Amino acid sequence: MLQAMFKAEVGDDVFGEDPTVNKLEAMSAEMFGMEAGLFCPSGTMTNQIAIKCHTQPGNEVICDHLSHVYIFEGGGISFNSGCSVKPIAGDRGRITAQQVLEAINPDDVHKPETKLVSLENTANRGGGSCYNFSDIEKIKEVCLQHKLCLHLDGARLFNAIVAKGEKPTQYGETFDSISICLSKGLGIPVGSVLLGKKDFIKKATRVRKVLGGGWRQAGYLAAAGIFALENNIQRLADDHRHACMLADALSSKDFTGTIFPVETNILIFEVKGRLTPVTFANKMNEYGIRVMAISNTQVRMVLHLDVSEEMVQKTIKVIEEL
Ligand SMILES: Cc1ncc(COP(=O)(O)O)c(C=O)c1O
Repeated sequence: MLQAMFKAEVGDDVFGEDPTVNKLEAMSAEMFGMEAGLFCPSGTMTNQIAIKCHTQPGNEVICDHLSHVYIFEGGGISFNSGCSVKPIAGDRGRITAQQVLEAINPDDVHKPETKLVSLENTANRGGGSCYNFSDIEKIKEVCLQHKLCLHLDGARLFNAIVAKGEKPTQYGETFDSISICLSKGLGIPVGSVLLGKKDFIKKATRVRKVLGGGWRQAGYLAAAGIFALENNIQRLADDHRHACMLADALSSKDFTGTIFPVETNILIFEVKGRLTPVTFANKMNEYGIRVMAISNTQVRMVLHLDVSEEMVQKTIKVIEEL
């Protein structure tokens, strides 16, 4: 990846003149069967730009109550778009068509106008849970019937695609906009791509500029993105296998409570009794293993391409001896 970055041909992306950025955007759009793409510095930015482009101030966005767009983007939906949120308690980050239907506001001046549904796949706080595609199709149906836009926070969409044996084009055909992160599991240092129709991406490019995301020789990063799309997707299955191995090791320990079903590269589990999430995380840290206490009861571990099989084996050993 670094070699690809060193060799990148670059230009000024603010003027649309960086050939490597242009190639990455066209390549990602084609992969999903969508019209256009926009390379941005972060997944937070691609999500926030999408929400801004789909809504007007005073509108309302429907999403799961644990969605990244709602709880981890600094209140960006209100800050950037002036919208309210109707959070839904889903099943490990996944909401249903019926829940969406019930969350749509009536045509009543007292209520904000419901405009957008935002889904997350895989769901971070759901422990990397994946939607069944048929459930997404049902939500799309509701969106079409009620003239709502449908956005996908696909920060880890390739994990879902690999785990479920799906095709990117299924997503491209269904969503009005998709944010995919090339960082995270795919391993590039910085960068996410927003996908949508040509007009939408034109509008998104203006919003990116306003947010200070118009960047210059971004081709060095885009080259890493192209490398990731060409080389790092299928290997995500290794991360999923590693997450299962860790879950197995944890399941026999007396300090482990409920372990969320492992579907992809995220492992969320309860720590109880003689350890707390913080003492567990501190202990692992002593061995150079970084895990996160995400609540008073839960720890989150994430697998990615820099965590080798050997490191996973070492982690299992440490867990066994705890
Ligand atoms: C589901 C989800 N969406 C969006 C993001 C935001 O990505 P970034 O850190 O690139 O802003 C994250 C980051 O962890 C995430 O987990």
